[in-house]
Amino acid sequence: MPRLVYVLNGPNLNLLGKRQPDIYGRETLADVEQDCRALAATLGLELRFHQSNREYEIIDWIHAAREAAGAVVINPAAFTHTSVAILDALNAFDGLVFEVHISNVHKREEFRHHSFVSARADGVIAGFGTEGYQLALRRVATLLGPQ
Ligand code: DQA
Repeated sequence: MPRLVYVLNGPNLNLLGKRQPDIYGRETLADVEQDCRALAATLGLELRFHQSNREYEIIDWIHAAREAAGAVVINPAAFTHTSVAILDALNAFDGLVFEVHISNVHKREEFRHHSFVSARADGVIAGFGTEGYQLALRRVATLLGPQ
């Protein structure tokens, strides 16, 4: 399996660090990307790291991951709870899929308890803060095996 991993982030995550820091913390998405890149280098993984507020862009990146990538790590943000289209795109991807949420969505409003993406995800991480991305990358590396 290719050691390329797409790390995809949904709407409003561009505001990470400034948006509701009591829930999402003070780290910015640029910090998260930097941490992911540093870890990926030690794990022998290649990263494509993206964020969009537009559902179609996330779908297009999942399509790009087909054939090219071994895994998709995705924080679909609010699209988690609404998007059959992102689920369909992930169902057309054959590699590993890990769903990450910075906050513990199950401790929050009822509408955050359901995820369309979880029906496809090989694993779900919620409530570990931005460290969740790193945990997902470590799991990808474990499952892909040594370089
Ligand atoms: C989130 C949780 C979602 O419910 C919310 O819409 C987000 C971020 C998280 O990372 O905790 O935007 O995915």
